[in-house]
Amino acid sequence: MTVKATKGHGAPIPRRREDDRLYDKLSLIIDSLDDLYRLDKRDFLKKVFEGAFELIPEAEKGSFFEFDGELYRPVFARGYDFAVLSRLSFSPSEAFIDFEVDVSDGIRACETLIEGRDSERFDPETIATFRELGTYEGFVSLYAPIRVDGRVAGLISLERFARSGFPRLSRKVLEYYARLISEFYSQKLFQDKETSLYRDVVSSLVSAIEVMDSYTQGHARRVAGYSRLIGAKLGLSGRELEDIETAALLHDVGKLGVPTEILKKPSRLEPGEYEQVKRHPANAAKILGEIRGFERIVEYAYRHHERYDGLGYPDGLRGDVIPLGAQVIQVADAIDAMTSERSYRPAMSIESALEAVALGSGSQFHPLAARAALAALAS
Ligand SMILES: [Fe+2]
Ligand SMILES: [Fe+2]
Repeated sequence: MTVKATKGHGAPIPRRREDDRLYDKLSLIIDSLDDLYRLDKRDFLKKVFEGAFELIPEAEKGSFFEFDGELYRPVFARGYDFAVLSRLSFSPSEAFIDFEVDVSDGIRACETLIEGRDSERFDPETIATFRELGTYEGFVSLYAPIRVDGRVAGLISLERFARSGFPRLSRKVLEYYARLISEFYSQKLFQDKETSLYRDVVSSLVSAIEVMDSYTQGHARRVAGYSRLIGAKLGLSGRELEDIETAALLHDVGKLGVPTEILKKPSRLEPGEYEQVKRHPANAAKILGEIRGFERIVEYAYRHHERYDGLGYPDGLRGDVIPLGAQVIQVADAIDAMTSERSYRPAMSIESALEAVALGSGSQFHPLAARAALAALAS
């Protein structure tokens, strides 16, 4: 990403060379932030830590300490023996290693010259650990906190074993970096919390269907598994594929609104009973329609009984008007139904089910979805 600094009517602001370099470095950070969201918490922090070395190439060694609510503990290191570093941990009331971290302060990068450790302040084991790490004396440390909701969540510290210390620019870069990362990390933790809440909701809904309809034990999870494989064969990925998988998990959630006697009936259904079962996609749309961000999932669940030839329900949609995600679930659903035992017929082999899919391509199934299912599931 390139952003040009302008003032007023677009005239460039003259900048000093150091500002230019700071600006280039910050652009580099902003470019890399996009990827960070997709990583899990540990990989996120690891990438942040590694990013600090790219931005501040003078750093020879470094570490990242995470605050676990009680103690600061090392989680990543570069240039240090991690097993040795792991012996160090500090409570917030203790000065952090030899640094003064003012926890009530904002996000600032600080630089400290450690000429020699104070042997009265540290116990002999800690002193021995410093010696083993080579951080007993004669180095400069540049460090900054990562804060979440005003609290210190971690600390990046970079070391240089030259008394001259770090260039002035590096201190500024680390400070901006720590501020940006703190902002991003806070948002990421919030997003992770939402994602895990959302997963819990999905899995409790799936369990609810299984309790109601033990007959189809495991059906939702198998359909989700097939749908993911078929969707991937179609070249789908990311959010689209995730939505298909979630919709597949929940496609029959509307059966919660169908009487249990009908769902558990061992023989074939009477026409009136079948009409009640056919309401389950509309019920699913009602149940899932309440969840923010589920628009596409609702659409797929609502359409999972439409057929390519227009003979399905609820609306008898035809061809490409039916969303591809729904067509993927439809074929996955049919495969699992065929390969599951029913009281009135035995389970079909996967090979026979796939033959039926090939036969139904262009009528019951979308040809693309059918072809992808054959490619994904044929052994
Ligand atoms: Fe269904
Ligand atoms: Fe189903």
